Amino acid sequence: MLHFSFISEFAPGFLAERETEAPTAPSRVATADRGRVTLEAVGKTYLGANGPVPALQDISLDIQPGEIFAIIGRSGAGKSTLIRTINRLETPSAGRISVSGHAVTDLAERELPALRRRIGMIFQHFNLLSAKTVAENVALPLRLAGVPKAERAEKVKALLALVGLADKHDAYPAQLSGGQKQRVGIARALVHDPDVLLCDEATSALDPETTRAILDLLRDINRRLGLTVILITHEMGVVRQIADRVAVIDGGRIVDLGPVATVFAQPSSAVTRSLLEASQFAPPESGGVLLRLAGSPADAEALAEKLRRDGTAIEVVRHV
Ligand SMILES: Nc1ncnc2c1ncn2[C@@H]1O[C@H](COP(=O)(O)OP(=O)(O)OP(=O)(O)O)[C@@H](O)[C@H]1O
Ligand SMILES: [Mg+2]
Repeated sequence: MLHFSFISEFAPGFLAERETEAPTAPSRVATADRGRVTLEAVGKTYLGANGPVPALQDISLDIQPGEIFAIIGRSGAGKSTLIRTINRLETPSAGRISVSGHAVTDLAERELPALRRRIGMIFQHFNLLSAKTVAENVALPLRLAGVPKAERAEKVKALLALVGLADKHDAYPAQLSGGQKQRVGIARALVHDPDVLLCDEATSALDPETTRAILDLLRDINRRLGLTVILITHEMGVVRQIADRVAVIDGGRIVDLGPVATVFAQPSSAVTRSLLEASQFAPPESGGVLLRLAGSPADAEALAEKLRRDGTAIEVVRHV
């Protein structure tokens, strides 16, 4: 079995766009650390009804600016707890976390709103307000932050265009498909030009085709805005389609970590292997060869198809 890993260039303008920050936000000027998320020996113990529940233990990660980083694991593994410590929706019991060079774990309660403006978040069930229009939903965090009306309107318009919903400005959530609702969720998460976007099972309520479209949008946004994306999923197909690296969590600990192609081809834990088997991305029992190709995804698929016709077992691991 051959495994392809596909590498191509960043979209043109990627670096240029990261350098041109709004002059009104001096603390948000691009720095080497903008979008970097580091966790050092992070632990979280909940006080459950039957005693302490260790949800995270000794988690250390260094997520690079502009990276798409996936977190996978079985139900109850600690995935949501982990990403919720990054924006302090959960306070860790141990360890240190920093986002864009700022020590999240040292922040006082009154400093959390500013932190959360640096970190957008989207959810499985979209969390939209049903009595508000699409535009009002997206504008809400700006209203709460006291941004003037004209500025809000301009920002909302630009974001709805970015997520492909310019024509849904005045629609209500009930009039939208699941994929469109998630696009609203993404637009709302981007209103403060965050450095990091957290996605907790953002495509789990969507069909495969809509999932692909939303993942394409997330990758497009990641490239255009240079945003770090951290996403939780239980679908290996999602990891394969979009992520640069993946961490596998089990029992609150990291049991596998590395570039997607490497973890898929050579899983180092039984949990990873069983997740891969359940998703039919199991690596070959006999090893196999991993090839990296430069070029377009269509070239890889065409080459794979040709080799399959010649009787070669081949899997395209991912497109970048
Ligand atoms: N507020 C809480 N109080 C007590 N225990 C909790 C709390 N939140 C989560 N837990 C426990 O912490 C562990 C990790 O939960 P978490 O929600 O992070 O898992 P998950 O990997 O996101 O699971 P899923 O895939 O089902 O969403 C579980 O054992 C869960 O029961
Ligand atoms: Mg969860």
